[in-house]
Amino acid sequence: MEVRDNRPDYPPISLSAMLEEELVSIDEELQVLEIQIEELLERQQELINKKTVLKRKIKQFSDDSEAGGSQTNDSAKSWDKQDFPWSENVTAALQKTFRLQKFRSLQLETINVTMAGKDIFLVMPTGGGKSLCYQLPAVCSDGFTLVICPLISLMEDQLMVLQQLGISASSLNASSSKEHVKWVHAEMLDKNSNLKLIYMTPEKIAKSKMFMSKLEKAYQAGRLARIAVDEVHCCSQWGHDFRPDYKSLGILKRQFPKAPLIGLTATATSHVLKDAQKILCVQKCITFTASFNRPNLFYEALCIGFKAYCHDFHELSNSHFQKTVLYITVLTSLQRGWTVEHGKRLGEDSNRNEGNAKICYT
Ligand SMILES: Nc1ncnc2c1ncn2[C@@H]1O[C@H](COP(=O)(O)OP(=O)(O)OP(=O)(O)O)[C@@H](O)[C@H]1O
Ligand SMILES: [Mg+2]
Repeated sequence: MEVRDNRPDYPPISLSAMLEEELVSIDEELQVLEIQIEELLERQQELINKKTVLKRKIKQFSDDSEAGGSQTNDSAKSWDKQDFPWSENVTAALQKTFRLQKFRSLQLETINVTMAGKDIFLVMPTGGGKSLCYQLPAVCSDGFTLVICPLISLMEDQLMVLQQLGISASSLNASSSKEHVKWVHAEMLDKNSNLKLIYMTPEKIAKSKMFMSKLEKAYQAGRLARIAVDEVHCCSQWGHDFRPDYKSLGILKRQFPKAPLIGLTATATSHVLKDAQKILCVQKCITFTASFNRPNLFYEALCIGFKAYCHDFHELSNSHFQKTVLYITVLTSLQRGWTVEHGKRLGEDSNRNEGNAKICYT
């Protein structure tokens, strides 16, 4: 069928052509709609993400106020001073007793806070020098510092170093002899004692009524200088290393409220810290977090195929970097078409050292 166009100069337009034209315009409109839907979906996802972040922030604020609030790194500057009554002693102990030249970042600030009798949590990377922040104040204070430490091997390492430095320190654990326990108990109460640090596992604190009664007497006599809780993230079930006996450590702050507490960890999120603060019955505390930035480390994420892996690996392992650690996600690699044969080859490579490189599969 044809539709006549009465205008003389125009050729007749077929109905099917008109329908075709309409179809094209509908297609175009649909395309526009699809783009709009995509944009709306993107916006929807954006808003959902924002909502999640806001909810998390609101929860964090309410946790903060529940835990009594805490000061953070902002206040660190006011503690970076050398004119406190104890400053001269602290500097002398650093150089003469610990044989160190200068403080690392946040060590002086933390030491000043605990010397001022305030409670503090310090988050500092592994190897950053957290131990000095309670060992040095222990040397500069009257009486002794009680150190809660989760592992006997960690205590032994520290005791060995302290012994080499000529600092009197001891530990009490399940394998301590009766004579040794008796000696430590006597030292705790002796005002002429040189014993500066007593290391204990949380289990021992929870179980030993005798020790707690000696500690009470020492506290009343003003001999409990402070309490250090190492690996403080172990208090919280939200942390990756929860230790049930850390839960009972709240007794320390309840029974000895005037003894300043210092909690130390390399791995706590603010949520875990708040939880630990509650468990340890710390009303108000200062929290310092040292930088985890390691300027001497270079990170790069690469997405490579198997052939490229062989090639790049050789290049990387002989690269100009001093040491290279290659973390390779095997599952993702297999999903990307790496075969079982490739897997076998990866297995052979795993944990192998080659040149400057070590390969780890995760
Ligand atoms: N100011 C300093 N100057 C030089 N070396 C330091 C200083 N403070 C600490 N160190 C050294 O850093 C090393 C690591 O210290 P420490 O064991 O206290 O680390 P850490 O933060 O407790 O780590 P981890 O999380 O593994 O327990 C030790 O050998 C210590 O002597
Ligand atoms: Mg440590």
